[in-house]
Amino acid sequence: MYKCLVHASDHFDRLYRQHERYWWRDKDRYATDQDAYPYSLLTQHTLRLLRGQPAGRALDLGAGEGTDAIRLALLGYQVDAVEVSEVAAAKIRRFAEDAGAKVHVMVADIRKFTPDSSYDVIICNGVLHYVDKKELVVTGMQEATRPGGINVVSLWSSYTPIPDCHDVIPVFCDDEDGIVTRLYQGWRKELLYFERDKAETAHSDLPSHRHSHIKLIARRPPD
Ligand SMILES: C[S@@+](CC[C@H](N)C(=O)[O-])C[C@H]1O[C@@H](n2cnc3c(N)ncnc32)[C@H](O)[C@@H]1O
Repeated sequence: MYKCLVHASDHFDRLYRQHERYWWRDKDRYATDQDAYPYSLLTQHTLRLLRGQPAGRALDLGAGEGTDAIRLALLGYQVDAVEVSEVAAAKIRRFAEDAGAKVHVMVADIRKFTPDSSYDVIICNGVLHYVDKKELVVTGMQEATRPGGINVVSLWSSYTPIPDCHDVIPVFCDDEDGIVTRLYQGWRKELLYFERDKAETAHSDLPSHRHSHIKLIARRPPD
């Protein structure tokens, strides 16, 4: 049956206009101490790995309202953030300024965006399930990561079918042993966690529902 789905940028523009903060509503959202994130395994582990490392360059793909990007900037990283939603991009700029952080924001579709630098950290948090051809985006991330650098990825897995309330824009979950985990086979897994059937708490505007996730932090091997 034909379904009328809207483009991701229109959908997220609307959500971001309606809510001052759609994601990361917790006040400690920019804390740089891993213990501030008992609810986010990915953030905890990322901060644990970055602790004591010299801050380098970071890229946040599908940065939303910029929380991960701003946190990295506060840690001293030189951060580029990419967003398809213009409303999100404006919020990242405003929230970064409010937080005293510097983030370079680009409005672009990550399916057509080629990172042009070598990054120490690339984050793609909650975005790849909106991308059909994930291989293009993930290999682009990998090529833009310097040896020894990390990729931090979270996406919906197909373990839980997409809840009806999310049937608004096209969604392409990946299998736990799907293309994303296979593409990182040659990288060292700092974290690979299949979170199954977890109640959604990140936003509050939809009826209660559940998701499964692939959470991955992988380190590019030295050349
Ligand atoms: C679930 S939100 C996650 C936001 C942020 N990464 C976070 O963790 O708070 C997904 C974001 O990806 C963005 N997005 C979706 N498809 C995209 C694409 N093709 N290119 C760039 N951004 C995209 C959306 O606009 C939205 O802000």
